[in-house]
Amino acid sequence: MAKIKTIGILTSGGDAPGMNAAIRAVVRKALTNGVAVKGIKKGYQGLLNEEIIDMNARSVSDTIQRGGTILGTARCMEFMTEAGQQKGADICRKHGIDGIVVIGGDGSYRGAQALSRHGINTIGIPGTIDLDIACTDYTIGFDTAVNTAMEAIDKVRDTSSSHERCSIIEVMGRNAGYIALWCGVANGAEDVLLPEKYDYNEQAIINNIIHNRKRGKTHHLIINAEGIGHSTSMARRIEAATGIETRATILGYMQRGGSPTCKDRYYASIMGAYAADILCAGSTNRVVAYKGGSFVDFDIEEALEMQKGISEYEFEISRALAT
Ligand code: ADP
Ligand code: F6P
Repeated sequence: MAKIKTIGILTSGGDAPGMNAAIRAVVRKALTNGVAVKGIKKGYQGLLNEEIIDMNARSVSDTIQRGGTILGTARCMEFMTEAGQQKGADICRKHGIDGIVVIGGDGSYRGAQALSRHGINTIGIPGTIDLDIACTDYTIGFDTAVNTAMEAIDKVRDTSSSHERCSIIEVMGRNAGYIALWCGVANGAEDVLLPEKYDYNEQAIINNIIHNRKRGKTHHLIINAEGIGHSTSMARRIEAATGIETRATILGYMQRGGSPTCKDRYYASIMGAYAADILCAGSTNRVVAYKGGSFVDFDIEEALEMQKGISEYEFEISRALAT
């Protein structure tokens, strides 16, 4: 196995708070291991455009507390093609890059897998606010995003109670309901609508609102996941059916920004250092994960075949506590 001399690092897909902590850890741990580091800007698109910079320990100074990603990120259609992937691997070789750390979600892992097939060693790190990567119990950014959403929902709840309104609050997560479930429990929502569980029985929600109002509840908080969407039209229908003023709030991109929580900084730092270590040691086609209380790594193929879903028990608890 040829000795690894230079590694690259890129962030891909949606950004997530804590990505900078991971970048910082990759850079500094690789340098400590005697391996040079190049930063690749704007994900696979930046790789194809050869937006590649040298990085040293100072390149990542004053970044651990910042949201977003200092390298930038992008989605790149060209990299989905065989020709794009071959070009990406050739560019790596041209710049002396023996291996790459890719921080992103499942889609980004597939890109990493392709690079590995073309002879460039790759390690993935789970970076997404959605928590929807099956091989890991933790993804970079989820903790910050869910805390940001929770604080925003508390604020909506105050005004909702004062006005005795019903509020539908839509949170991000693409097709996954983790942010919605966690906020549902943490914010004490009366209803939580998850893509994995929702039966589209709007009448049941309407009955619940009327029932709760009769029992003296002054507000009714519905957390709706992005994967269900349509919060504004749902609010109009609920108001018409119940006679209770109903407002929709879509939290949107605020959930992806902001200074990362301690948990996101810590876990991202450990994962970044771990990725640098195994990449420098010659591993390829692996993803770092946090599973069953430990930091581990899996083969990308194996990781992509894993399944995860919302726990029925936890979902039932979210409903039971809302009574
Ligand atoms: P995420 O990594 O958060 O899941 P995307 O699914 O948008 O985000 O993927 C990010 C990028 O990864 C894509 O824009 C593309 O460049 C690359 N990618 C996604 N799927 C593949 C694939 N099947 N093969 C190669 N590259 C891929
Ligand atoms: O994957 C993170 C995420 O914020 C999802 O929650 C959301 O569905 C998606 O990205 C939005 O992506 P874009 O930045 O392309 O609008």
